[in-house]
Amino acid sequence: MDGMPGQGPLPALLLAGCGKMGGAMLSGWLERGVERVVVVEPHPEATAAFAGRVTVCDSVAGVPADFAPAAVILATKPQQADGALPGYERFAADDALFISIMAGKTVAGITASLGGHARVVRAMPNTPAAVRQGFTCAFPGPGVDAGQKALADTLLAAVGEVAWLEEEGLIDPVTAVSGGGPAYVFLLAEVMEAAAISQGLPPALARRMARRTVAGSGALLAASELDAAQLRANVTSPKGTTERALNVLMRPDAWPKLMEEAIAAATARSRELAG
Ligand SMILES: NC(=O)c1ccc[n+]([C@@H]2O[C@H](COP(=O)([O-])OP(=O)(O)OC[C@H]3O[C@@H](n4cnc5c(N)ncnc54)[C@H](OP(=O)(O)O)[C@@H]3O)[C@@H](O)[C@H]2O)c1
Repeated sequence: MDGMPGQGPLPALLLAGCGKMGGAMLSGWLERGVERVVVVEPHPEATAAFAGRVTVCDSVAGVPADFAPAAVILATKPQQADGALPGYERFAADDALFISIMAGKTVAGITASLGGHARVVRAMPNTPAAVRQGFTCAFPGPGVDAGQKALADTLLAAVGEVAWLEEEGLIDPVTAVSGGGPAYVFLLAEVMEAAAISQGLPPALARRMARRTVAGSGALLAASELDAAQLRANVTSPKGTTERALNVLMRPDAWPKLMEEAIAAATARSRELAG
């Protein structure tokens, strides 16, 4: 590989699937600088924003025969994996690293679909990757060497923070917490907006207020070294209005229990989907 992780341009990459998540990652790599990217994506509109900067093929059969990527990033939907993966087997023979972001697809299943010898990193990013604020947990499968792990780290870090897991099974709770987490935060903005309207605030103001409160609190959390609990306490005067609201939200049967149940349900679903 000519490109080196951590310095200089990234090495040649093959991206399978340029949807929401693949596209977000691709824009991070292009911003960082990459030797060459070939994208396999059936919908021309999905790659329009990258015209002139990547080679686009509508199927893996169209990838130039002499193209030898250092990594193949698998970003199709999980249900498309069984049909798509065998087409990528030739890159496993060339020693490319495979990085899968497909929910529920195990390292063993992916390796088997690629002919049994591929080296695979399994990763779970989240949608704030679209604004380089993602959080990705990754697990290195058998045979992934230190250089390949560093390459995967660099590729995933192009769109946010990366943490490595020592057990593949932890991907299921990760999927439930950080994979789905943005949806729970967006729900918070939705229900806060509805509650603001119920208290008589004009809908447009309620919407703006809920969005900025969630976004601003996230930015404060990101910028602060304080624990979330301390930041919460800093807003809560004794016997004040926030304390009155938190007495409702923090009741044992309210948010603490509901979040516990929600994360457990999503973790269980992730385990059901595994294959
Ligand atoms: N979105 C999230 O929050 C999130 C979080 C973590 C992980 N992920 C994982 O990321 C993966 C992609 O999710 P996404 O939200 O980006 O989905 P998406 O927007 O549907 O993107 C997938 C793209 O791949 C295309 N595609 C289908 N078959 C293909 C093939 N054989 N070769 C190349 N491209 C093909 C799809 O086309 P069609 O529309 O025709 O199918 C679509 O344009 C999923 O496996 C998901 O589990 C997503």
